[in-house]
Amino acid sequence: MEFQFHNRIERRNTGSMKWDVKEHELPMWVADMDFQTAPEVTKSIVERAKQGVFGYTEVTDEWYQAYQTWWKERHHLEIQKDWLIFCTGVVPAISSIIRKITTVGENVVVMTPVYNIFFNSILNNGRNVLESRLLYDGSEYQIDFIDLEEKISNPQTTLLILCNPHNPVGKIWDRETLERIGDLCSKYHVTVLSDEIHCDLTEPGDEYTPFASVSDNCRNNSITCVSPTKAFNLAGIQTAAVIVPNYNLRHKVSRGLNTDEAAEPNVFAAIAPVAAFTYGGEWLDALRKYLWENRLFAEEYIKREIKDVSPVSAKATYLLWLDCRNIIGSSTELCNFIRSHSGLYLSDGNEYHNGEGFLRMNLACPRQQVEDGLNRLKESVAAYKIWVCRQC
Ligand SMILES: Cc1ncc(COP(=O)(O)O)c(C=O)c1O
Repeated sequence: MEFQFHNRIERRNTGSMKWDVKEHELPMWVADMDFQTAPEVTKSIVERAKQGVFGYTEVTDEWYQAYQTWWKERHHLEIQKDWLIFCTGVVPAISSIIRKITTVGENVVVMTPVYNIFFNSILNNGRNVLESRLLYDGSEYQIDFIDLEEKISNPQTTLLILCNPHNPVGKIWDRETLERIGDLCSKYHVTVLSDEIHCDLTEPGDEYTPFASVSDNCRNNSITCVSPTKAFNLAGIQTAAVIVPNYNLRHKVSRGLNTDEAAEPNVFAAIAPVAAFTYGGEWLDALRKYLWENRLFAEEYIKREIKDVSPVSAKATYLLWLDCRNIIGSSTELCNFIRSHSGLYLSDGNEYHNGEGFLRMNLACPRQQVEDGLNRLKESVAAYKIWVCRQC
């Protein structure tokens, strides 16, 4: 079946967070896609809406089966039904887990640059962020295990949040790396929260490794957050699942989610994952191919036309992490300049911590829009360099 990823969908004036921008602006920042979801998902939502009764809702057996089958077939992880807990989103789950598993004043370790909202969840709940900075050698990001162990072994540290695959750098962590993280965290009694929301957006032919599948240590000491919302563009539906294999840990997480009133679905949150994971495989594979062609297109364009910017190579997500360190100035200033000069709205690397000199570009849109964004980037970088020189 052919899917129409080239079609432009008008999203202005629909209450879209991404597209609530000025008329001439082109938003390529927040991580949602400018594509319609899989037709089967829309169909299931429309069918359900036609009933016209929207009473209190529970997840059904199909919801559990959809996650179990998808993870078994796609990701080689056998999830037992009772390991799964519904949640209204990955961020609500993360905040709730922080509140339940750690106490005020304790440390939560993150590996930066990383998804900025982790910081909000930690700091808003009165916990400390302990940042272990990833190392970038100009071609690949790596974990600094000496630094990581120092942070994990701090007796005030009780939780580590892993981003697997990693937003914004697009890295898929390999089994050995995950095993090492799992061993360190078990050794120092630090629970691992693995955010795997980007796991279905890998390069075609490549797979991610679920943290809980790596070893007994990893399975027994982890809480994993997953969702179809990134891969199927359903963020506004607010639906996710938390996987907790360990009984005692699961009891705690489940109590936390219930107390926080984040464990009950709305009508569509209960059915959208079922449709996505049961019928959306073909659509998703076509999407991944399209996204990868977008990435290759953008990388080639930048290498050819924007010499001062280097794309960081990635294996997952639709986010392009751009190394702009050859350009004098700060990435906050550059990001603001690009937006005011050309209307191109990117994310500033500083938002993710340890991201000075980098920008993040969302490539999940029709190719023509990617090209428009790249043209604006090229023009803006050239104008910024002149502007910076004039300030000297
Ligand atoms: C790593 C990561 N986790 C969580 C989220 C958001 O999850 P949710 O919308 O389910 O709260 C995002 C969105 O970009 C993300 O990149």
